[in-house]
Amino acid sequence: MSQNFFKNDLLTGQRFLVTGASSGLGREVAALIAACNGQVLGAGRHTERLQAALSSWPGQGHIACVQDLHDADAAADWVKGLAQEHGPLNGIFHAAGAELLRPIRMSKQAQFDEAFGSAFFAAAGLARAASQKGVMIDGGSLVFMSSVAGSAGKVGMAAYSASRAAIEGMVRSLACEFAPRRIRVNAIAAGAVQTPMHDRITQGAAPNVVDAYASSHLLGFGEPSDIANAAVYLLGPTGRWVTGTTLAVDGGYLCQ
Ligand SMILES: NC(=O)c1ccc[n+]([C@@H]2O[C@H](COP(=O)([O-])OP(=O)(O)OC[C@H]3O[C@@H](n4cnc5c(N)ncnc54)[C@H](OP(=O)(O)O)[C@@H]3O)[C@@H](O)[C@H]2O)c1
Repeated sequence: MSQNFFKNDLLTGQRFLVTGASSGLGREVAALIAACNGQVLGAGRHTERLQAALSSWPGQGHIACVQDLHDADAAADWVKGLAQEHGPLNGIFHAAGAELLRPIRMSKQAQFDEAFGSAFFAAAGLARAASQKGVMIDGGSLVFMSSVAGSAGKVGMAAYSASRAAIEGMVRSLACEFAPRRIRVNAIAAGAVQTPMHDRITQGAAPNVVDAYASSHLLGFGEPSDIANAAVYLLGPTGRWVTGTTLAVDGGYLCQ
């Protein structure tokens, strides 16, 4: 984990569910929550990958939660069960998701299910759970990963872009629904950040193609810590007056 710019006790006594915690952005956000003295319930599909991530986070008391996320109802029941077992949540960071690069002529229902399942349908289920009694404390915070692809087009990205745009649309309505309990709901639209997902996307591409991809971001590719800093800002008391928004953390990709 890179440097912690927040206070080491920023999240003391607080419990956070982090999906996608076994890799990339979720793993880094979980590490920063832990560095700020928060407790992490870290979720992913594979026990060993989760345990490896968990053992790298500072502090004690973090819990590995193995779960495949693809369906709103199942996700809602799962989160409700977690809160019953471990206590109510102060926040949720939802980073579970998969890349999908596929032209529309090759995109069938299965590809749309894949793009929407772990990212959007699961997000909707997490939000439903948070609306139920005893799952999230009043004043909590929900943060969903989105992408610059949610608002900028690219060849082969129809299903992926639609799923991230859906998250950004949902966030605005959820902010209105949750405001009476002062629960805040936001998304982060990331540009290209160097994670295992990014490696899979760029591996095999010619160096000049990767260079052009990096140059499409005014500040080049990002690091997972760039997203973690934004996520903890939104999850913690630092973001207390921010809701219903999508924060672009994209090295200047979208402003052009
Ligand atoms: N990296 C980027 O440049 C970038 C940019 C914009 C947006 N994003 C978005 O940010 C999110 C995280 O990306 P990343 O780069 O951190 O990817 P990553 O390194 O591939 O990590 C993805 C995480 O999601 C989990 N996951 C995937 N499918 C799942 C499922 N069906 N159920 C439960 N967990 C599942 C994985 O768990 P396992 O260990 O079980 O595989 C893993 O922990 C994604 O939604 C991605 O689209 C990333």
